Amino acid sequence: MVRPFEPGEWRIYRDLRLRALADSPDAFARTLAEEQAQPDAAWPARLEGGVASSGDLPLLAELDGEAVGFVWGHVDPEDATVAYVFQMWVARKARRHGLGRALMSALIDWAASRVDRLELSVTLTNESARRLYETLGFEPFGEPVPLRAGSPLREQNMRVRFPSR
Ligand SMILES: CC(C)(COP(=O)(O)OP(=O)(O)OC[C@H]1O[C@@H](n2cnc3c(N)ncnc32)[C@H](O)[C@@H]1OP(=O)(O)O)[C@@H](O)C(=O)NCCC(=O)NCCS
Repeated sequence: MVRPFEPGEWRIYRDLRLRALADSPDAFARTLAEEQAQPDAAWPARLEGGVASSGDLPLLAELDGEAVGFVWGHVDPEDATVAYVFQMWVARKARRHGLGRALMSALIDWAASRVDRLELSVTLTNESARRLYETLGFEPFGEPVPLRAGSPLREQNMRVRFPSR
């Protein structure tokens, strides 16, 4: 089951975010050390800000009542025609149950009524995520760029357009 985070659930969000970075460091530009260095007060502020903002959609995935995944959608504050997907992750034990597809489908529905296109970046070696995005209509654009400074990994931008909006 997929649903928006509620304002008081920042501990759940923080734990999932740190688990994601520990589990899949090559899937994200930000590192576990950077997120662990956040002051405690940053976590409720981030989640509550996101929940309250019409330009954000932090989504939680649950399996048998347990929090096992999440994703965050964010409309560009300087270009209201585009939204971005950040932080997509599902715990290993919950993978291949359709939760990744459910999270991304919910974000697409949200974005389709707000913006002209939804964009994300995926590490070139991340076959499973790329396949998921392709099945949902995302297409690559532009040249791959380094995942982060000093990393040999490169990421590819992908987008889905909403022409009928
Ligand atoms: C990518 C990820 C979110 C997919 O989550 P998931 O819940 O397993 O995805 P789903 O069960 O909804 O799978 C949907 C589709 O994605 C593709 N897919 C997912 N995992 C796959 C794998 N290991 N191999 C091949 N295709 C895969 C398939 O097309 C699948 O459809 P199918 O099961 O009908 O064949 C998950 O593997 C993950 O968290 N990976 C680590 C973090 C990460 O890569 N995040 C993305 C950053 S851009």
